Amino acid sequence: MGQMDSRTVLVTGGTSGIGRAVVTRFIEEGAHVFVTGRRQAEIDALVAELGTGVTGMRGDVSDLEDLDRVYAAIAERGQGLDVVVANAGGGAFSALADLEPEDFDHTFGINVRGTVFTVRKALPLLNANASIVVTGSTSASRAIASFGVYSASKAAIRQFSRVWAIELADKGIRVNTVTPGPTETPGLAGLAADPAQARALLDGMADGVPLGRLGQPSEIADAVLFLSSPHASFITGSELFVDGGESQA
Ligand SMILES: NC(=O)c1ccc[n+]([C@@H]2O[C@H](COP(=O)([O-])OP(=O)(O)OC[C@H]3O[C@@H](n4cnc5c(N)ncnc54)[C@H](OP(=O)(O)O)[C@@H]3O)[C@@H](O)[C@H]2O)c1
Repeated sequence: MGQMDSRTVLVTGGTSGIGRAVVTRFIEEGAHVFVTGRRQAEIDALVAELGTGVTGMRGDVSDLEDLDRVYAAIAERGQGLDVVVANAGGGAFSALADLEPEDFDHTFGINVRGTVFTVRKALPLLNANASIVVTGSTSASRAIASFGVYSASKAAIRQFSRVWAIELADKGIRVNTVTPGPTETPGLAGLAADPAQARALLDGMADGVPLGRLGQPSEIADAVLFLSSPHASFITGSELFVDGGESQA
């Protein structure tokens, strides 16, 4: 028996990095997983690899009509929704002096608006004892130069998740934030201008982690699975740092 047998799960941004590892982990545990991302080719490749346990849907979390299509498909399956992993997100370095309004709107549109309406629109479908896990970031509670917009967007969703935990508690719905430290994903490497700089960036980040290395997506996925499972039945409103100690250093 898997921990997620007969559960229906949505993972936004599930075609790469942390989201992909979460999808894989939930499928191993018997869930049916709806996966979103903006690139159809990545979705097709994931579905081909993982098989019948996954339903891939192209969708941008910052587009409300895309979210409506995804939730319509989940409703049509007729089994509600047990877990929402609001994971889609990203950012870029920009010093305050160089910041353009479009860059601010883009990052907040995906990380904040996208997360808020992913969760808001899930509510009518959530089954009893459903679990919501939001992907935060250690940058939300640190000050990294040129990372202000991303950091603030992650601080915003951390705060939303605390409030939602209180608002949804009377329905038995739990809401938690999983907070990765630097984790080896295409998204993290993509912060650098080119592959050579990416290696230097990643090595520099690993140096700042007490455990002395980057996290692996599967390590974040294990934490998401835990927070979504009955093992975490008395945990809501919490923030689980999966960061090799970075936030405590
Ligand atoms: N890696 C780290 O070190 C780290 C640390 C802390 C927090 N995080 C957070 O963890 C989450 C995953 O990051 P990652 O490093 O795994 O990134 P990644 O490798 O770039 O993967 C991001 C995933 O999200 C999808 N995505 C991006 N924008 C989207 C949108 N608007 N709508 C729907 N899907 C979207 C991407 O697919 P498409 O491009 O096809 O849409 C992809 O599947 C993010 O929220 C990130 O902020 C990462």
